[in-house]
Amino acid sequence: MASITLDKRIIVEGTHALFAITESDSEALYAFNKNFWTERNEANTQADIDLILSGYRARSTEADRVVPAENIAKLAAPVIANGGTFGVLEIGCANGPLLRALQELNALPGIRYVGMEPYAPFVTDFKDYFPDHRAMIADAEDFITMSADDFPEAPFQVFYAAVTLCMMSPDIVRACLAKAAEFCDEFVLYDFVMNGLGPFNRQETVVFEFNKDTSQYYYAHNFVSYFADLGFEIVAGIPLPHPTTGADGYAVIRAVRKSLREKR
Ligand SMILES: C[S@@+](CC[C@H](N)C(=O)[O-])C[C@H]1O[C@@H](n2cnc3c(N)ncnc32)[C@H](O)[C@@H]1O
Repeated sequence: MASITLDKRIIVEGTHALFAITESDSEALYAFNKNFWTERNEANTQADIDLILSGYRARSTEADRVVPAENIAKLAAPVIANGGTFGVLEIGCANGPLLRALQELNALPGIRYVGMEPYAPFVTDFKDYFPDHRAMIADAEDFITMSADDFPEAPFQVFYAAVTLCMMSPDIVRACLAKAAEFCDEFVLYDFVMNGLGPFNRQETVVFEFNKDTSQYYYAHNFVSYFADLGFEIVAGIPLPHPTTGADGYAVIRAVRKSLREKR
């Protein structure tokens, strides 16, 4: 576990404790989290890897995958009904739980999808199951440096991320959202939103205690200010407890480019 100081704390009933941390602790935590997800050092054998893959395949029936998929399917339906395709770009796509959820809703035809994922076995598994869609080995830092040349499938209507941005520090998330805004006019996210309007000062880096016993601390982002700074506005928020822990404070949020919303 990254060694971080957790002294400025806020407790809210029914959800994870929140802490403000220093910039240097944030750097250490992000490096730790990134290594955890990218290297997966705990998965030493093929059996370990298979367990991770099958676990994420099964997640497509959980509410936190189904509700975003329903939202995306609803946005896509009129575009596809008019003979178009609907582009979705995802970061932290694992082995495709979103596409599986769309498939189970019979909403996959007409979806033009690109996923980015740093853990190589997820990408291999994705490619085996969805040969007609693209997933690439890429992390947040890779994405931030990409351009339109990397995405012949662009533009995308929606940028999607589910319990992925909470793994990344605020500077990285802001840069990812800014990059995504070059390709997409709308965001659908499922994430921890307890710091969406505070309670901390928006300049503070805030983490939440996902699991004290396993020392898992993730970031609680101030999405309201991130999107406002980019010229986007949060237009919907559907509270949805975390599927594994049952903790409150998570939601599916949709954010739309303000200039487009004003035109609609
Ligand atoms: C909790 S899993 C969620 C996976 C998937 N989005 C889902 O809906 O099940 C977090 C995902 O974030 C990815 N991830 C973690 N850190 C990342 C980073 N720095 N850049 C890109 N992806 C990252 C992980 O590899 C993993 O696939």
